[in-house]
Amino acid sequence: MHNIAVIPGDGIGREVISEAQKVLEVALPNHTATEFDLGARCYARTGEALPASVQAELADHDAILLGAVGDPSVGPGILERGLLLKLRFDFDQYVNLRPARLWPGVNSPLAEVKSGEIDFLVVREGTEGLYAGAGGVVQRGTSAEVATEESLNTRYGVERVVRHACQLAALRERKRLTLVHKTNVLVNAGSLWQRTFDEVVRDFPELTTDYQHVDAASMFMVDRPETYDVIVTDNLFGDILTDIAAAITGGIGLAASGCINPDQSYPSMFEPVHGSAPDIAGQGIADPIAAIISAAMLLDHLGRAEDADIVRRACAAELADRKPGQPVRTAEVGDRVAAAVEKRM
Ligand code: NAD
Ligand code: IPM
Ligand code: MN
Repeated sequence: MHNIAVIPGDGIGREVISEAQKVLEVALPNHTATEFDLGARCYARTGEALPASVQAELADHDAILLGAVGDPSVGPGILERGLLLKLRFDFDQYVNLRPARLWPGVNSPLAEVKSGEIDFLVVREGTEGLYAGAGGVVQRGTSAEVATEESLNTRYGVERVVRHACQLAALRERKRLTLVHKTNVLVNAGSLWQRTFDEVVRDFPELTTDYQHVDAASMFMVDRPETYDVIVTDNLFGDILTDIAAAITGGIGLAASGCINPDQSYPSMFEPVHGSAPDIAGQGIADPIAAIISAAMLLDHLGRAEDADIVRRACAAELADRKPGQPVRTAEVGDRVAAAVEKRM
């Protein structure tokens, strides 16, 4: 019996997670799902983004499924840092895995690309970099105000995520691994990343490896996305690149992710790449596919690869059936995918 913690969160997070749960119920009948009401409502009620007792309960689960957090009624960063990043950091989810795949029948805004031609993985470092929270503000609100945000990079942290990316690349057909950074400007962190990368890839002679600056990679991702297989990169670069990756593969409503603790010392967390989308929340038009594919990644993580494939196949069938411009109805998509999964198609 698998124990899954569910954090629907805010805005469309709540809407898409209901659909992912519908699908999980049929894909993995043998699980318990415990819902945790974290996000803007919990913050309004308690003044805390993540009460310690709730965090302790979450730690006791096999995996976490999260919708999205963030709400216009709460100051920027309070929920993002206080809940989402706190979980990623405290649960040592150092591999932020973000697949980018152009599904059959889905249109890319890139004219020349056909389905199957975009299929890469971004391995985003999840616990360090500019997200670490180092830095501060002096003379706040004055004309002399200075704000700093420092990027934290440790040999230990870089090595483990690069090694994980190598292992993933070695399992793939093309066995290509690209390091993306900005070594021409960020000379301290860049040098650490480049030297660590060069040392670790020596243990994987079967891989073809290269390095790209993040500005060039942003361009190449748009004009030659078929050249990528696995990308390993720092936390912030990975955040930005994966929104580009989502845009070229049919939109952010299809982009799934896993915040993974490969050591399994803490639960891993699965969530769509998108946010709470206040602009469309409450209308029932958010695409739940990203959340459902994130649930498939959760199944993979629990060792249920066959069930995960069934979920992905059901999503692929749903996407292939869509007419161009057809509006999405969140609950109807969830119903159709769950029905297909139930038939084990
Ligand atoms: P967003 O991803 O919420 O929305 C960006 C655009 O994409 C919006 O126009 C939105 O309508 C659209 N969109 C997003 N998901 C969609 C879906 N499933 N179907 C259809 N359209 C979809 O990003 P944002 O507007 O920059 O952020 C809104 C809030 O979400 C902020 O508070 C932000 O901090 C938070 N956020 C949270 C997460 C997370 O919890 N993992 C991720 C990103 C942003
Ligand atoms: C994401 C989001 C988060 C990030 C925010 C909400 C903290 O943009 O999951 O991509 O920057 O990692
Ligand atoms: Mn992001």
